[in-house]
Amino acid sequence: MSTAVIRNGVDPSKTMSNNAKRRKMEEKYAISKKPSENGHKTNGEKECVLLRKNQFGDVSDGFMSNGDWKKRWDNKQTKFHKEVYHDILLSYYDAMVNNKTKCRFFVPLCGKSVDMKWLLDKGHSVVGCELVELGVQQFFREQDIEYTVEEIPNITNGKLYKGVKDDICIYTCDFFKINSATTGGKFDCIWDRGSLAAINPSDRNRYHDVILDLLEEDGRYLLDVFEVDHKEFAGPPNNFLKEDIHKLFEEKCNVEDLKRRNAMTKWQKQWNVDYFYECVYMLTFK
Ligand SMILES: C[S@@+](CC[C@H](N)C(=O)[O-])C[C@H]1O[C@@H](n2cnc3c(N)ncnc32)[C@H](O)[C@@H]1O
Repeated sequence: MSTAVIRNGVDPSKTMSNNAKRRKMEEKYAISKKPSENGHKTNGEKECVLLRKNQFGDVSDGFMSNGDWKKRWDNKQTKFHKEVYHDILLSYYDAMVNNKTKCRFFVPLCGKSVDMKWLLDKGHSVVGCELVELGVQQFFREQDIEYTVEEIPNITNGKLYKGVKDDICIYTCDFFKINSATTGGKFDCIWDRGSLAAINPSDRNRYHDVILDLLEEDGRYLLDVFEVDHKEFAGPPNNFLKEDIHKLFEEKCNVEDLKRRNAMTKWQKQWNVDYFYECVYMLTFK
C-alpha cells in the first residue's frame, strides 16, 4: 500500500522521483501533531498519524478539510449519496414528528439527500446546510425545485438557496458558522445521517454545540452513525461507539438507543473493514 497523504485529492507520491523523497514525506506526516483519536496513535512524546485508505480509495490520515469535500463533489466521488429514502428516517418518522402536522426539519451536512424532498412532500418546512454549492445545485435541479439564491448576512461567501414555491432552503456554507439566529429559529426535528459521522473527530464538541443550539426544547434529534473498524480504513465515516454518543450528549440530553445493525455492503468490504454497524439514537433535551 502506498503511504502518501492525500490533500485536496492530490497524491504527491505520484510526482515523486525516488523512494528517498517519499520516505521523507512519510516521516513528516507520521510525526505531525494531531489529536489521538480514531487511529491516531501516540509514539513516545510525539503524535503519530496512521495512514490508511479512505472510502475514496486514497491513502489518508482521515482528516477532511473543506477543500477536500469540495474536491470530492467536483470529482463525482459522492457514493455516500443514496437515491432512495432512508429506511431509518421512514421507520422513526412518527416518533420524530410526535403528532405534529407541520414541523421545522433540519438536515445538517445534507449533501443532496433525497430525504429532504420526502420531508417536504410530507408538508414540513425543510432546512439543510451543505458546504459544497455543487451538491446544493444538484439537489434543486434533480428534485425539480425552482429556487432563488441570496447572500447569508454575516457569513462571508455563504449562500442561501431557497425554494420559490416550496418551503425548503439550504444554507450553503460551513455548518460551524450557522446558529439558530442565522436560521431564523430552532427546529422541531433534526435528521442526521452521515453528518456527525463525517466531521473530523476534533470538531465533535463544536458540532454538539451547534446541533443543540438548533434543537427546540421539545425537539427530537434522530442520529445515524457507524461503528467502523479503522485498522485498515481511514474515515470518514468515523467510528462512534455507544459510549461515545452517550459521553458527548448525556450532560444535556436523554439518549435512547434505537437500533444497531450490520450495515456491511460490497462497498464497505472494499474498504477492508472487519465490521461496519449502523447505530441509531434518538436524542431529546433532559
Ligand atoms: C458523508 S456526506 C453525507 C451527506 C448527507 N447527509 C447524505 O446522507 O447523503 C457529508 C456531507 O457533508 C458535507 N460537509 C462536510 N463538512 C461540512 C461542513 N463543515 N459544513 C457543511 N457541510 C459539510 C460534505 O460536502 C458532504 O456532502
